[in-house]
Amino acid sequence: MSESSSEPTLSNLLHETRHFDPPAEFAAAANATADLYAEAEADPEAFWAKQAERITWETPFEQVLDWSKAPFAKWYVGGKLNAAYNCLDRHVEAGNGDRVAYYFEGEPGDTRTITYAQLKDEVCQAANALIELGVRTGDRVAIYMPMIPETVVAMLACARIGAPHTVVFGGFSATALRDRIVDCQAGIVITSDGGNRKGKPSALKPAVDEALAECPDVRNVLVVKRTGQDVDWTEGRDLWWDDFVGKQSTEHTPEAFDSEHPLYVMYTSGTTGKPKGILHTTGGYLVGTSYTHWAVFDIKPETDVYWTAADIGWVTGHSYIVYGPLANGTTSVMYEGTPDTPHPGRWWEIIAKYRATILYCAPTAIRTFMKIGAEVPAQHDLTSLRLIGSVGEPINPEAYVWYRDNIGGGKTPVVDTWWQTETGMIMISPLPGVTSGKPGSAMNPLPGVSADVVDDAGDSVPNGSGGYLVLKRPWPAMLRTVWGDDQRYVDTYWSRFKDVYFAGDGAKRDEDGDIWVLGRVDDVMNVSGHRLSTTEIESALVSHPKVAEAAVVGASDVTTGQAVVAFVILRESAQGGGDDVVDELRKHVSSEIGAIARPRNILVVSELPKTRSGKIMRRLLRDVAEHREVGDVTTLADSSVIGAIEQGMNASS
Ligand code: WT7
Repeated sequence: MSESSSEPTLSNLLHETRHFDPPAEFAAAANATADLYAEAEADPEAFWAKQAERITWETPFEQVLDWSKAPFAKWYVGGKLNAAYNCLDRHVEAGNGDRVAYYFEGEPGDTRTITYAQLKDEVCQAANALIELGVRTGDRVAIYMPMIPETVVAMLACARIGAPHTVVFGGFSATALRDRIVDCQAGIVITSDGGNRKGKPSALKPAVDEALAECPDVRNVLVVKRTGQDVDWTEGRDLWWDDFVGKQSTEHTPEAFDSEHPLYVMYTSGTTGKPKGILHTTGGYLVGTSYTHWAVFDIKPETDVYWTAADIGWVTGHSYIVYGPLANGTTSVMYEGTPDTPHPGRWWEIIAKYRATILYCAPTAIRTFMKIGAEVPAQHDLTSLRLIGSVGEPINPEAYVWYRDNIGGGKTPVVDTWWQTETGMIMISPLPGVTSGKPGSAMNPLPGVSADVVDDAGDSVPNGSGGYLVLKRPWPAMLRTVWGDDQRYVDTYWSRFKDVYFAGDGAKRDEDGDIWVLGRVDDVMNVSGHRLSTTEIESALVSHPKVAEAAVVGASDVTTGQAVVAFVILRESAQGGGDDVVDELRKHVSSEIGAIARPRNILVVSELPKTRSGKIMRRLLRDVAEHREVGDVTTLADSSVIGAIEQGMNASS
């Protein structure tokens, strides 16, 4: 366990006293001003009605919010719009067709500059292609792609014809892809031969072929040629994107859909083994993402070059590479590959090359850059940056200050943004130019958003105390339900406390009332900003014939925030397999879920610590995994078990 953490525990973060005021020059020109808070509080619905003016509605809405069937919300009731029209056509119509939508940088160094007019043409072609394949309004389309412009084209083509997309992160395995396709009954898959990662082509099509062996409802697969790898081909089912999309007309008239028409389903891990399909709809989501992108990133579409360094396969990419930035007519950078290919300064080279003004990334990336050393970014001209942001997990103060000093030149505001797949949009964040930055704190709910920290009984905690993070009012980009499972939506989010949304995170309020998000309080882990379920990994482990029982915990890790640590009991027949078994199990988890879920450590044990009622005490396993003194063991059925596991852990270090 050489990588295990000696970081301060999160509660120590509260002793952090550094803070950074917004630079006067930034504040003077900032989009968001302090009076937004008061305006939103005075009349939240009027505030959200005003934010909806960012969007072009074909039919105006009659009511801002219908909460009569809470927690099932309807936003902008009666309004009709087309998401792709809002992201593309209206900018072209306004004379901005020549503005760059994306500067695409491939990992091997190939580049493409795509204007709004070009993107619109490609999206129309793809929309016509989907129609030719029989895709109708409401049908689902799965997208399993690398980080290339066609991924955006595919998403917007779906949005244009009202076919909800479900983008499955390219790092997920064939099994995970199959489960998602089956759950939302997608009829079409859009993929590519592969993408470029770590200096070599990484295949995607084989996983699709494997997944589709068990997805009888999928009629066609559109395949983008990216790497030129050999691919297996199923005649009649598989179609090359270049041929089939390329031959289509660039004309397509967008249809306006109801504000509540489903825009996409994004799967995320919950506390059970089965991932949840988070449903986002059209009007509220576009309002929420465009407003927050404007306020939090201070977007000036004429001059900014904005870069969210995340994968489109996660919600961060959906909201802040695709929908928010395009709705706002922003010029973005899109990068295909890994940060250290072909050299550890690749990101900084990209920022210098495109004179990027805003960077948004995850703390795990920042901590990796810290480890490599400040001399790497110092070799590149990063003076174009005027704002930098962080998302996905708590950012520890050292990483925040390093980021501000070495990437932000010691002067840019840093926005630590808290939100979730479910919230669709940033919810808690400083407003740059308004709010001071405190390293480690996401600060305050954005204007229009109402968050609180409550105790077990659901009462607000006083300043200086901790509790559970809740959201008190509905917001436009909120999830509408869990795909096909309304009850799970109610149970997971709206039942823990009365009438408020339970986020699943622990949080504290400091003496100033500012919010510090401390991490999950449920069986969800956060590894490099990726959300993983302990139960899901446990299920993957026990699906292996050699495993009798498994318990998984998230242990703190200096670089990845948390790391997966698994404790397994082998079946009698598999005893004595040693390192080979551990290797085999790691690979098994990769193939069941994806490489991101591969345990950092697997410890073979003979028993797991259980209560008398048979519940595994993960809390104690986490203590062991983090090399802490083991907590209260009085409820254990057999208290000697944990001592044996501790010995095993120490011996394996
Ligand atoms: C979970 C949501 C938001 C898009 C990427 C992750 C954690 C997210 C922060 C932050 C502390 C954070 C929470 C949350 N999280 N941002 N700024 N500070 N924790 O989306 O996969 O749905 O994960 O990520 O634990 O619940 P996600």
